[in-house]
Amino acid sequence: MTSAPPSPAARTLPFTAPWLLAPMEGVTEPCFRDLVLSRNAPEHLGGTFTEFVRVHATPVPRAIVRRHIGPSRFPQPVGVQLMGNDLERLAATARNAVAAGAPLVDLNFGCPAKGAIAGCAGSALLRDPAAVERVVRAVASAVFVPVTAKIRAGYDDASRVEELARAAEQGGASMLTVHCRTRAEGYCPEVDWTRIARAARAVSIPVCGNGGVETHADFERLRRETGARLAMVGRGALADPWIFSGRRVSVGESARFLVEYADLMRERNQWPGGGIAARVKQLLRYWTAGGLVENEEHRLVWLREKDGEALLARLRTLAAQP
Ligand SMILES: Cc1cc2nc3c(=O)[nH]c(=O)nc-3n(C[C@H](O)[C@H](O)[C@H](O)COP(=O)(O)O)c2cc1C
Repeated sequence: MTSAPPSPAARTLPFTAPWLLAPMEGVTEPCFRDLVLSRNAPEHLGGTFTEFVRVHATPVPRAIVRRHIGPSRFPQPVGVQLMGNDLERLAATARNAVAAGAPLVDLNFGCPAKGAIAGCAGSALLRDPAAVERVVRAVASAVFVPVTAKIRAGYDDASRVEELARAAEQGGASMLTVHCRTRAEGYCPEVDWTRIARAARAVSIPVCGNGGVETHADFERLRRETGARLAMVGRGALADPWIFSGRRVSVGESARFLVEYADLMRERNQWPGGGIAARVKQLLRYWTAGGLVENEEHRLVWLREKDGEALLARLRTLAAQP
């Protein structure tokens, strides 16, 4: 006999603290995530997510999801994020994700990429709150773990953020992350946290506010100003992976992170996109931790280094400092 999945309220969110690392495609693959998790205690960093796993023509098999989860385990949960619009394939992939060990499944309603919009997935679904509700319901009915949803504040504007939040809640989401920018706003520097507050007032499930967290203090400021129970950081953690604890690190410690990142990718034979130095440079584009990048001119010196091995050798020299 199969029993009905538990209600969203009966599914306990597994986060160890109310501060989360955002899913970031091309960045938060297992090597980077593992290093961030290894440097932030569970009371500072409450959990994170895989990059989005795109559900296309067929359900994504368990082995592929397992690759996204990666080999390491930490006290903090790593949710598997899915993006798609086909209810059955999403439901089947969510079951595969749970079988692969996912402690929660997150649904992407925010991706602004042309491919996602053309395929009516990610932020394209923000134009139709009923579709958001259907997608969440299909996945929440398919698995017993918490199912969470991550939306932007809207497609062209934020006028329907309450409606979108309620759609996710009614579909059975156990938590709703609101990235306060609309799809049209992309990744603009300005943020309007009142949109998070509006979503938080519209629903009774926990809301996680996201967008524009740049310092450790911003986590609490966002929660205080919006009523969101959790806060999530994306690029701020690429600038400073220690943002969760607010600990200031030395140049040596900062460089050691990047060197370990390069070594881990080599050890696991895994550096999707561009090679190891390119991945390190991707972080250096944002990096502020430890004053390793002294100013914008210095950043360009790092980024213009054509010889990947020379770049890594310079980092190794700095990493030898205390
Ligand atoms: C490089 C990059 C990749 C991203 N990939 C994803 C993704 O896979 N899934 C998702 O829900 N959001 C993704 N996002 C959005 C972030 O999760 C987050 O919502 C956004 O960056 C706003 O937070 P921030 O202002 O703290 O950076 C991505 C953002 C960036 C910069």
